[in-house]
Amino acid sequence: KMADLKGMRRGRLRLGVITTAKYFASEILGEFCRMYPGIEVALKVTNRDRIVDGMLANEDDLYIMGQAPCEEIEVEEFPVAPNPLVVMAPRDHPLVGQKRIPFSRIAEEPFLLREPGSGIRDATLKAFDAHGLRPKVRMELGSNEAIKHAVVGGLGLSVLSLHSLTLEGTNGPVAVLDVEGFPTMRQWYLVYPKGKELSLVARTFLEFAIASEPRIRTRMESLWPGLQLLLDTGE
Ligand code: PGA
Repeated sequence: KMADLKGMRRGRLRLGVITTAKYFASEILGEFCRMYPGIEVALKVTNRDRIVDGMLANEDDLYIMGQAPCEEIEVEEFPVAPNPLVVMAPRDHPLVGQKRIPFSRIAEEPFLLREPGSGIRDATLKAFDAHGLRPKVRMELGSNEAIKHAVVGGLGLSVLSLHSLTLEGTNGPVAVLDVEGFPTMRQWYLVYPKGKELSLVARTFLEFAIASEPRIRTRMESLWPGLQLLLDTGE
C-alpha cells in the first residue's frame, strides 16, 4: 500500500474520450485530481472513429467510448455510466410538450447531424433506418455544442446525449421532446486494448471511475425525472 501511494504521488494519465464523455469525465477527473494532486492529466476529446484509431496506435492509457466497443480491436470494457440519447428542439417549437410523438412526425422536420465518424450520428441514422425513413439533413456539424446552438437558432431538430444539457438543464433554451422510442439508452465504457498493461495511475483511475457510476446516474436522473423510470425498468 505504501508503494502504491508513492507511485501515485506523481505520474501521468492520458485519457481519450468520445465527445459526449467530456460532460462527465471532467467531473470524475476533478475529484480524482483533488485526491492525487501530483498527477498530470491529458484529456483528448474526439469522436468514436478517432478513439478507435488512437487505441490501435496505443496513444492513451484509457479510453471512454459508447456502446458496442469496436470490432477492429479486442478490448477490456467496464461500464461507467448510462448515456441516454434524446431528441432536442428549440423551446418555442410546436412539438414541445406533446406526448408520445411518432417518429415519423420527427422525420418531417429538418435535422442536424454530427460529422461522419461520430457514434451519435450512426445511432441517429440507425433510428431512421429502423423506421424505413431518411432524415432531411439541413446541416452537418462537428460538435454537440454547435448542434445545440443550431437547434436553438431554429435550424432543425437533433438527437444528442442528455448529458450535453448538464449545465443548463432541460428547462433551458433546448427542450427534450417525448418521441416514440426515445430516449435510446446507450452506455459508456472505460476501455483499453486487451493485454495492455495499465500503469498504477491508470488502474487507480479505472477503479475510481467505476465507483463513480452511481453518482453520475443520480445526476442524470435529477436532470430529467422521466429517465428514472426508464433506467429502473431497464427498457
Ligand atoms: P461521438 O460519440 O462523439 O462519436 O458521437 C458518442 C457516442 O458514441 O455515444
